[in-house]
Amino acid sequence: MRWSLPAVLSLALAATSLGAPLRRALPTPVSASTARTYLSQLTVATPSNSPAYARSEFKTWDTISGACDTRETVLKRDGTSVVTDSSCKATSGTWVSPYDNVSTKTPSDLDIDHVVPLKEAWISGARSWTAARRESFANDLTRPQLVAVTDNLNESKGDKDVAEWMPPLKSYQCTYVRAWVTVKHYYDLTIDADEKTALQSYLADC
Ligand SMILES: *[C@@H]1O[C@H](CO)[C@@H](O)[C@H](O)[C@H]1NC(C)=O
Ligand SMILES: *[C@@H]1O[C@H](CO)[C@@H](O)[C@H](O)[C@H]1NC(C)=O
Repeated sequence: MRWSLPAVLSLALAATSLGAPLRRALPTPVSASTARTYLSQLTVATPSNSPAYARSEFKTWDTISGACDTRETVLKRDGTSVVTDSSCKATSGTWVSPYDNVSTKTPSDLDIDHVVPLKEAWISGARSWTAARRESFANDLTRPQLVAVTDNLNESKGDKDVAEWMPPLKSYQCTYVRAWVTVKHYYDLTIDADEKTALQSYLADC
């Protein structure tokens, strides 16, 4: 069968709009089975905070598109009916925080959580990266690393790893550990022994 150019173009356009529905979540992590393989490939090492972590070692937020920075891009991605002003600040919308299933219409109630926290990354290897790589990590919209959550959660999580803190919503824990392993593996970060035990246990139940 021969296709005319306009037919091919309109098919391609239809596929693009169908294939890219509005996602209200972080990029899909690897499957549980791939995560188990990745976990076996991660290096187990004792974390090191020498030199000492400083938040300023990870530049945020980058400009992503037009007036929108990384934070604003994630807020638009993760919310429903998000309205932004001319500087891309969200003025209204509805968000459901995936870690606890709490719903809010107040943009200032939301934090952009780094799934693998910046300090956790630092003590797991990022301390020896270039500043540019740390910036890419802190603004990564491609890996499942950034997610809009209610701010009290980000505060309870702090810099804790999966042996120390998990999202309270049980049904999200599998996604969370798959995301954690996807990011650690992509960036070749190390894990500590307790973290490995915790990841094995959660992934066994996924
Ligand atoms: C999340 O909250 C909504 C609305 O309260 C509820 O219908 C839904 O079952 C909850 N989902 C989970 C996974 O708890
Ligand atoms: C989330 O919490 C961590 C650790 O306290 C902090 O470094 C980070 O800046 C917080 N994120 C936001 C967007 O407030």
